[in-house]
Amino acid sequence: MAVSRFGVSLETELLEALDKYVTDNTFPNRSQAIRQLIERNLAEKKWQCNHTVAGAVILVYEHHKRELSCKLMEVQHDYFAEILAVQHFHLSHDLCMEIIAMKGQAYRLTELADKLIALKGVRHGKLVMTRSDEIID
Ligand code: NI
Repeated sequence: MAVSRFGVSLETELLEALDKYVTDNTFPNRSQAIRQLIERNLAEKKWQCNHTVAGAVILVYEHHKRELSCKLMEVQHDYFAEILAVQHFHLSHDLCMEIIAMKGQAYRLTELADKLIALKGVRHGKLVMTRSDEIID
């Protein structure tokens, strides 16, 4: 397969994190690490289908951030049919963690997680899903 080269600009912290990732996973170089990260991301995008899945999204956010709590709630109400339960933890004076358990069509859960994770003040967000319908290919 043809290989193309491109330049990447990264903050020092991110570059250090990338180099640590390369070392920890014994990649021969940065290119190989980036290739794997992209492929993994593409694999996760395949979840944009209509299979029934169970999943959870974990969010860590700054609850003092203006209107963030309201926005998180608004988005969740748009997906009330998919949300099974929400657990909230006060991590510190400023930080909250939420675990949102969900069941529904994969693309709906992906959509919901993307909307939550993109909100300003959300420091970290991760969605995990697994098929929960009868037929597994
Ligand atoms: Ni809290």
